Amino acid sequence: MMKKAYSILLILCLLIGQSSCDQKETISKGSDGMVVTAHFLASEVGADILKQGGNAFDAAVAVQFALAVVYPRAGNIAGGGFAVIRTADGKYNTLDFREKAPLAAYENMYVDSSGNALTNLGQKGHLAVGVPGSVDGMCELHKKYGSIQWEKLLQPAIDFAGNGIKLTELEANKLNDYRERILTQNSGKKEIRYVKDTLFLKGDILLQPELKETLKRIQLDEREGFYGGKTAELLISEIQNGNGIITNEDLKNYKAVWREALVGKYRDCKIISMPPPSSGGIALIQLLKGAEKFELRNYGFASMEHFHIMTELERRVYADRATWLGDPDFYDVPTSRLISDVYLDERFSDISIDKKSDSQEIKAGEVNVIESFETTHFSIADKAGNAIAITTTLNGNYGCKVVVDGAGFLLNNEMDDFSIKPGVPNQFGLVGGMANAIQPEKRMLSSMTPTIVEKDGELRMVLGTPGGSTIITSVFQNIINAMEFEMTPQECVNAPRIHSQWLPDEIYIEPNAIDNVTRERLEKMGHVIIDMSKIGMMANIFVQENGDVIGCADTIRHKDSKAIGY
Ligand code: DON
Repeated sequence: MMKKAYSILLILCLLIGQSSCDQKETISKGSDGMVVTAHFLASEVGADILKQGGNAFDAAVAVQFALAVVYPRAGNIAGGGFAVIRTADGKYNTLDFREKAPLAAYENMYVDSSGNALTNLGQKGHLAVGVPGSVDGMCELHKKYGSIQWEKLLQPAIDFAGNGIKLTELEANKLNDYRERILTQNSGKKEIRYVKDTLFLKGDILLQPELKETLKRIQLDEREGFYGGKTAELLISEIQNGNGIITNEDLKNYKAVWREALVGKYRDCKIISMPPPSSGGIALIQLLKGAEKFELRNYGFASMEHFHIMTELERRVYADRATWLGDPDFYDVPTSRLISDVYLDERFSDISIDKKSDSQEIKAGEVNVIESFETTHFSIADKAGNAIAITTTLNGNYGCKVVVDGAGFLLNNEMDDFSIKPGVPNQFGLVGGMANAIQPEKRMLSSMTPTIVEKDGELRMVLGTPGGSTIITSVFQNIINAMEFEMTPQECVNAPRIHSQWLPDEIYIEPNAIDNVTRERLEKMGHVIIDMSKIGMMANIFVQENGDVIGCADTIRHKDSKAIGY
């Protein structure tokens, strides 16, 4: 079975034309700590903090701010995210710094008088912005778990913004791809650092002086440096000029929330993940329990049965997501029932090993094709045994594309993660209903799935990825690859991925994820297979039974990412 997985991998690597399947390039071993992020500069920042004696949580704060400068498409100070934490003494916690709907938001704010959904407004421009959570989140994280001074954690980001960073080829190309969209949302502004007169080239220096000043205010005044004073003034004036609805009161009210971690059992492992308002933890635990029930390991990686069963599980889990999941502060999410064995035995009981079920029979919906969007995930472990998995986002690439004039940072477009009208899909093709309807101060449902795996009371994995709705299934597949198919850490990350989500009733596959015979067999069963260039971008840490800490970046999908251990 592993032989087959390996040959698929080799083909994938040859096709992508990179030597990154040479494990030495992507893997990093460390005994004192490990940092894996989407950008090597941010990984260096995190590793430096650990070397200076900071713990995993200090490093996470420094990485979050560094990513806001070196990886502006997803790293952020005006987005939000989730952190899943395991402390060295084996305790768990999670931090919800997800954005909120502004006070002036209302259920039908993206529906016109004839009842048509105005999806664009939830995705672009000032009305798409949720009240940002990242800065308050980092302050809370530092207050509770930090061990070195706050000022030190901001300094690397400030230096990057002030001295400039050399653009990688990937970042230069991404900025160029979004040039017109950024220009459209920022017309008339003087200093938009994310576009210039000509196209960006690899090696160009990106200076962000306005962002540097904003970061200095946060360094000096912590929370108040963002939600009050000059930054708040600039942010609110930007919002008002663009007819947005966020007010000073929204900024003042914003509070990140500590939530009890969602813990589920899968084989002899504990899965520690994010509870609502992320759907990630519930969906992941449902999927893993389903995989266990169907003994996926008996079928072989990339077999017809492997992909068929995963798809059938995902169909049911994403249908549950659409109906039952939303912000628990506003909607009574039946969490324990959804992950209970009794419920799942019943829920998965109609899955047939050789017959496809039909999503359209459950509920119909017109659905967009899922494109590639960016969020970012990073995983950090320190020598004491503390670990943190953070997934953070502006939602779309460069968020709503609006840069706060004079403050140099991009705003999120997270409002699109609400269900703007029952059955109307968002940009990830996800549908929802009442549980995820817009209400003032409510958090929009997320798929972000920062996760920690423990076995026999020991830390085993810290993992997560961007990818919108594909986040859950990517994390699922990485755990399955390790636990069911016994892949090595880097094989888990490199292995081709597939994705399905109830609606649309399709299976997305990465290049060469399946051979022609398997593809034909799946199609004969009625599965519709759609090729997709890449799914997810994992940033994983694995702790081996012998204590080796292995960091795995997803460099075959994103070559700027890096694992650094020491
Ligand atoms: O919270 C969510 O589920 C989405 N806003 C995440 C967006 C995302 O992952 C985009 N990236 N690839």
